[in-house]
Amino acid sequence: MKEEWPGDCGLVLNEPLIFERGAKGRIGYSLPGLDVERANPENIWPRKWVRKDLEGFPEVSEVEVVRHFTRLSQWNYGVDAGFYPLGSCTMKYNPKVNEEVARLPGFAGAHPYQPEEISQGALTLMHHLESYLCEISGMGRVTLQPSAGAHGELAGMLMIRAYQTDQGNPRKKVLVPDTAHGTNPASSSLCGYQVVQVKSNERGVLFPQNIEEKMDEDVAAIMITNPNTLGLFEENICQVVEIVHGKGGQVYCDGANLNALMGLTRVGDMGVDVLHFNLHKTFSTPHGGGGPGSGPVGVKAHLADYLPIPTVTRDGERFRFDYDRPKSIGKVRSFYGNFGVLVRAYAYILSMGAEGLKRASLVALLNANYIRVRLKEYYHLPYDFPCMHECVFSDRLQNKFGVSALDIAKRLMDYGFHPPTIYFPLVVHGALMIEPTESEAKETLDQFIEAMVRIAKEAETDPGLLRDAPHKTKVSRLDEVLANRKPKLRWKP
Ligand SMILES: Cc1ncc(COP(=O)(O)O)c(C=O)c1O
Repeated sequence: MKEEWPGDCGLVLNEPLIFERGAKGRIGYSLPGLDVERANPENIWPRKWVRKDLEGFPEVSEVEVVRHFTRLSQWNYGVDAGFYPLGSCTMKYNPKVNEEVARLPGFAGAHPYQPEEISQGALTLMHHLESYLCEISGMGRVTLQPSAGAHGELAGMLMIRAYQTDQGNPRKKVLVPDTAHGTNPASSSLCGYQVVQVKSNERGVLFPQNIEEKMDEDVAAIMITNPNTLGLFEENICQVVEIVHGKGGQVYCDGANLNALMGLTRVGDMGVDVLHFNLHKTFSTPHGGGGPGSGPVGVKAHLADYLPIPTVTRDGERFRFDYDRPKSIGKVRSFYGNFGVLVRAYAYILSMGAEGLKRASLVALLNANYIRVRLKEYYHLPYDFPCMHECVFSDRLQNKFGVSALDIAKRLMDYGFHPPTIYFPLVVHGALMIEPTESEAKETLDQFIEAMVRIAKEAETDPGLLRDAPHKTKVSRLDEVLANRKPKLRWKP
């Protein structure tokens, strides 16, 4: 039988839980001696609240604690560890200067209740960030309140609903293309709208005639993701905007993929009425694992009255919060947004400058197209056109050998890469969605391409190797359904 803890191995890199480490009486930290009179807790609190012992509590030394958490941190994979081409998520490098700035005591220690007079620095930053986002996008005003892209969508759609209601009728439907991000139909539906799906054409983009057929006076808005989830620019967007506006609808643009457009074009100039930003993607703040994020929303002048309160206003040389906005949809979260993320995004914009942002988008496009062209001989490319910031392949060629997108993704881990997004977008069966971002050098892209080519060859010659992958990771293939349905979230002695 295989030993669980092989005695012939000096350093075992399997990490027990902290509760399973240590020994009775072992101490990691000594409190300084008491300089007040000792009190008996039982004389202060009700007896039922006073424990004699913390049962099962780990008793560990300092070095055990340090090693435990250091080892766990080394099992993590992140953008600071390697290439992370997770399509749709824009896992670009987060420059460390952003962290430095966010940690400045005046920002990090600011309290949301502190008076405006001593919050001028924070208010100035928010006001400037709003104007930079307006400049980059072509929108009129921006709220920084929403905490994520999906939250921004909800806020944006609530503003559209309020506007349509003021026009006399909130209307009933929202058009959502089949290439939109999944959060778009969810946000529309949360706002009480019926979602009407619009099919994209053979070029993977919106076809104006399809919009014309679905557009009527019951449609409140269309939600367009641009570039869409196929990584393609919605080349007919101006015609679509005209059709929707013609029937009194509003145009919402999901701007989470703005990393492809900075300095190159502005959706505001295309006639879009509402746009959300994913600061944590485009403007390079750390993300993943649920946040914190930031999803500001830009609107054109006719929707500015509906922005969440408070907005930040300039009064001469001072800045203040403006709560006196009777048409506002109200607050969409506590206080003013994820302020630390706003600081990081602001630092990123300032350190890049206008030229730097444009160059970031250009390199993101170049990198994605380089991968697209180099890999299309080995992987099926359902939409064989120049792409924007990401490219989408499918597993069709590998299916012949019984190999799926999941197997390819798992095998990539053996080559040391984070897998791409798989099975999304839904319009591509067995999708492999690769977003390299601008952060990567050509050598890294070449290594990744080499790994993908090898995997394509392995699929032909040794498909079993892929179906059982990964082989070199700490744990091999997990039963993801079981992990999802019956997660073990609590430790019991
Ligand atoms: C196109 C698009 N829209 C919306 C979202 C949702 O953003 P969030 O995850 O911040 O809610 C994402 C997320 O990556 C996205 O890629």
